[in-house]
Amino acid sequence: MQTLDINKAAVELRGRPPTEALRLALDSFTDIAVSFSGAEDVVLVDMCYRLLQRKVPVFSLDTGRLHAETYRFLERVREHYDLQIELMAPDALSLQEFTLNKGLYSFLRDGHQECCGIRKVQPLRRKLATLDAWITGQRKDQSPGTRSAIAMVEEDTAFSTAQHRLVKFNPLADWSSGQIWDYIRENQVPYNELHERGFVSIGCEPCTRAVLPTQHEREGRWWWENREAKECGLHAGNIQKDKP
Ligand code: ADX
Ligand code: SF4
Repeated sequence: MQTLDINKAAVELRGRPPTEALRLALDSFTDIAVSFSGAEDVVLVDMCYRLLQRKVPVFSLDTGRLHAETYRFLERVREHYDLQIELMAPDALSLQEFTLNKGLYSFLRDGHQECCGIRKVQPLRRKLATLDAWITGQRKDQSPGTRSAIAMVEEDTAFSTAQHRLVKFNPLADWSSGQIWDYIRENQVPYNELHERGFVSIGCEPCTRAVLPTQHEREGRWWWENREAKECGLHAGNIQKDKP
């Protein structure tokens, strides 16, 4: 039974360190996991394992289109923390039908939503149906257009249903990219080697590119599309929330 008062917890967590949000998350929920892809997420895992000395289940959406460097990074994290990472695969038949009809690069012609829907959102929905809460590495300044209003804990309006309330924790919501990287360096946390080559926000290989100095990190994702559309569906609740 969930007893967490989300609004009260969100107010109490304001200005508090990420470890307090993580502690509350792990104390409040048994069926909870970290959604893992990049730099922020490895910081969350490190905080759980090293600072809180708590184990947390971890899953990652293996779209089949990740960089080789990302697969190597996932393996390094698995070994470094001696943890299991559940790799969620897209539904084989949906993917087969999609690539048969539209090929491997349809997102360049008609937008990323359909491909992300099959490769990311459906597998995520499948995973979230087994959880009462999930933990993400979202930060406010990652995407001024869509993430500036996220809280450290919130109801997941995109994936909750009438029968199943899903809670979403964003313990790093208030952290800057600089704080993430200070933490990684100070604590010798493993990171994706693509970061050494100008990549900041890393998703799938065909939809991610390095950014130039002073370019916003989000400009390296789906760069052929406009700014407002830059959520792939994992965090669809943000789009509505950010509108005035
Ligand atoms: S995305 O929606 O645009 O792809 P982004 O790369 O900014 O998201 O990452 C924000 C958070 O979403 C990550 O910290 C992580 O919690 C989650 N996330 C993104 N991509 C994945 C993935 N492939 N597998 C699991 N979680 C992911
Ligand atoms: Fe497909 Fe690109 Fe979305 Fe990956 S990021 S699922 S390749 S559209």
